[in-house]
Formats: sequence, C-alpha cells, structure tokens
Amino acid sequence: MKFSSTNSNIKDISNKACFVFAYKDKNSASVTTIDEANDAILSNLIKSKVISTDLGEITPVASVANINFSVVYVVGAGDSQKLNENTLVTLVNSISSVIKKKELASLHIAIDDLTIEGRTTHWITQKMTERLIFGFYKYDTTTSKKNPKPFLEELTFISEEAGLQLAIDTGSSIGHGVNVARELGNLPGNLCTPTYLAEQAIALDKAFVEISTTIIDEAELEKMGMGCFMSVARGSTQPGKFIIVEYKGDDAKAKPHVLVGKGITFDTGGISLKPGAGMDEMKYDMGGAASVMGTMTTIAELKPSLNVIGVIAAAENMPAGNATKPGDVVTSLSGKTVEISNTDAEGRLVLCDALTYVERFDPETVIDIATLTGAIVIGLGHHPTAVYANDDVLQNQILNAGKEIWDRGWPMPLWEDYREDLESPYADLCNISKTKGGGSITAATFLSHFSEKYNWAHLDIAGTAWKGKETGATGRPVGMLTQYLLDRS
Ligand code: BES
Ligand code: MN
Ligand code: ZN
Repeated sequence: MKFSSTNSNIKDISNKACFVFAYKDKNSASVTTIDEANDAILSNLIKSKVISTDLGEITPVASVANINFSVVYVVGAGDSQKLNENTLVTLVNSISSVIKKKELASLHIAIDDLTIEGRTTHWITQKMTERLIFGFYKYDTTTSKKNPKPFLEELTFISEEAGLQLAIDTGSSIGHGVNVARELGNLPGNLCTPTYLAEQAIALDKAFVEISTTIIDEAELEKMGMGCFMSVARGSTQPGKFIIVEYKGDDAKAKPHVLVGKGITFDTGGISLKPGAGMDEMKYDMGGAASVMGTMTTIAELKPSLNVIGVIAAAENMPAGNATKPGDVVTSLSGKTVEISNTDAEGRLVLCDALTYVERFDPETVIDIATLTGAIVIGLGHHPTAVYANDDVLQNQILNAGKEIWDRGWPMPLWEDYREDLESPYADLCNISKTKGGGSITAATFLSHFSEKYNWAHLDIAGTAWKGKETGATGRPVGMLTQYLLDRS
C-alpha cells in the first residue's frame, strides 16, 4: 500500500476513483473545478439533492465528462464552519468503508477541500492517513471467516501543498502502531499470554536494528526481589515476564524516555475474584503493554533521534492454591513492604516494581500506561485518558501532545492529601485505599511512592484502551505517546 501526494490539478489526473468533498454552505475547491469543467454538474446535483452534503454521506458520480476519473465520489462534509477533528474522523470512516466495499485498488483524495481551524493541510493529511489505516484493520485472527486480502495499492492525496510525504509517513506509522496495539488487545487471553507478549517484543528486535529486547523470567525476578510483581504472577501457570524493549536513536549518553506498560493478560481479580458478568473484558487488561508495543513499533519506523525504553510488566492474575491472599504482606523491589488487602488491585503491584526497576536507566522521564481502575471509567467516561504527574511541566507536555495529535487526556491531581488513605498497620503501604472515593487517584498515589526519583507521569487508560467488546481495542494512547516522544526529539 503506497500513500503519496501530487500537486497536479484534478482536471489533469486520470484514475479509477477520486474522493472530493462537498459542503452545505459553500462550494469546495473540487466542486468549483469540476463544475467549471462540466456545466456546473456537481452543484446542480447538490441542488437537486441527488448528492447529499450531510456529514459522511458519499455519492458516486460516474463518467463526468472532461474529468478523467471513472468515478468521482462526493463526500458530504456538512457545514464548512463545523468541520473539526472529530467530524474529520467521521469522514475518513465513511471513505474507508467505500474503499473496502468497492475494493478500490487506486484512488485520489482531494485533501485541499478540507480546512479545520487551527490545523494545517499537513495535519489533516497525517490524521487522514492514520485513520484510513485504522479503518483497514479488522480482527480476524481467531475467526474462520477471514477478511478479504488487502486490495488497495496506491492512494494519492491531491494538494497544492509541498512536502506532504512526511505527514503521510508519520500518519502511516502511527496508524500501524495503533493497529499493533489493537490486535494485541483484541487477542483472547489464552493466546495473548505474557510469553506471547515477550515473543512479540523479540520479533520487534529482529525487525529493527535500532531495537534490542531483553526478557527476564520469574526465577530471575524472584532473585532480584520483585516481590510485588511475583505476588501477582505466582498464582498463574502462565509464567510472568518482564519485558524490556530498547530503541536507540540518539547517542548512548542521551537519557532515555521510559514507557512502562501494565501487561495483565487476564485479570480474574485473583482470590478477590471479580464477578462473572463482563469478566471476559479483562483480556484487555494488557492495554498499557499493547500501547507500549504499538508506540515502540511506530518509533522504530519513524526513527526519531532520541532514546526510548519500553518496559512491560506481564502477568496473569489468577486465583490458585499458591495465589496471594488478602492480608498477605510482600516486599517490593524498592524495599517497601505492601499489605495486599485486595488481590484485584494487581496492576499497581506489577507496576510498582517496574517503576523501581527503571531507576537504573537514569531516565529523562518515565510514563506508565495502565488500565488501572474502574473508578476512572466512572469519573471520566470513555473519552479522555487520565493524566497524572509528579511534575507540572511533564503533565502539560503530555496533555499538549494529546491535543496536538487528537488523542486527548485530562489532568488529574496527585495531592499529598491522598497518601494517608494508603496507610496500613501491617506494612509500609496498603495496596488499596481505606476510603471509598477517588479510586483512580489513590491508585496513582500508590504508584507515586515508587517513582520519586525521576519525572514521572501515569496514564489511567481503563476508559480509553477499549470501547466494549464489539468495537474492541482502540489502540489508545499510541498517538498521544508518539506525539509526546516526537516533541522531545
Ligand atoms: N483491571 C482492573 C481495572 C478495570 C476495571 C479496568 C474495569 C477497566 C474496567 C484493575 O485491576 C482492578 O481490578 N481495579 C480495581 C481496584 C480496586 C480493587 C481497588 C477496581 O477498579 O475495581
Ligand atoms: Mn484487578
Ligand atoms: Zn487489572
């Protein structure tokens, strides 16, 4: 699949298909050009309602005289003033469905028809590329009926703007990374095990010279003193894996940016067993790990000049004869002891040891990404990722990256006041809060005890990593993380 751009005029190009856009309130550049070539054909069809300008409605117009496209697909773009980042995504979704339905192998898109306040043509091109690639992914790994083979060979954006290839390549690598994260998320827990995640990380090492992967197994983790991680991994016959994926894009002296992903490949809750209804969705509890794998893929493709280390704490949270019991006390890698009052608060346990482990990289920044709490879904719903940080500059950099790439977050507090909620008479810390409220904040507060030695942020993605069973994994926040990293290079 080759994406490129041309600055030829729409009248001078010949191909099977071209997508142009039509507004309710004015003629787009393409409508004007095609009208001029052919007796106001498009505006007449719009006037007579043969062509709909409703957002995302697509009308094919075949054999337009003096135009060398077999079919001009007119995409309704609604009110030109109302076009924004969200409605752009709606338009792209409609375009991908037509591409799939008509099995188009080669097509043009008249990107200059689209303008969004505060966004450049480069931005629109990048986002459109990313979302088209998003639209071409559909899960079929464990179904007998397979998706049709990809038929799209070349897609060309028509624009007067120069230098669009960088936007195309960036959008395409982000789309690819997002789809890597979606596939890992959607895979069932019996296939996507900690061992499987480790194999995928090794495959990345094989695919890119800039990447080297290290896997640490349970025996070694036990020896190192990762008592919190092991308290979760212990109860499963699937061995836990600690995965380190290093990307070198800068000289060895440059401090790395570290991403730490929660990789619970299935969360039953452990002995504090979850209710049965909806438990299947806990296969998505490795969404943080998936976003690390997706982002490392995107970064390896884009090759920015910086060093990035992805760390994945992968384990299955199961009840078993040797599983951790509520009330057990374990010692973390940091030396702090933790009373595990609820074995279902396992994400923070695997993460706290990972956060201590990454101190050895002398990191520039550390961001952990985790489907950490049901509470954040109650608090923020499914639209923003919750963004916590022990440094205001870092928090803003992440929020700004999210706004820029349109994979947005929302700021959350990490006040000291919450710390008393985690006190325990039996250990240095309890893994759950004594009080009922603010479950996502107290989880973040737990992690803040293990990330005091560097600038750190925590993303609670329980509301954003997947959208129910039907839609499946979203691939978020690969976009936000990639933009954050590109901004640092
Ligand atoms: N993986 C869950 C969080 C989760 C729940 C994400 C529902 C998405 C939807 C996490 O391990 C968990 O079980 N958290 C508990 C914490 C509680 C025991 C303090 C929760 O949120 O209920
Ligand atoms: Mn849990
Ligand atoms: Zn969990």
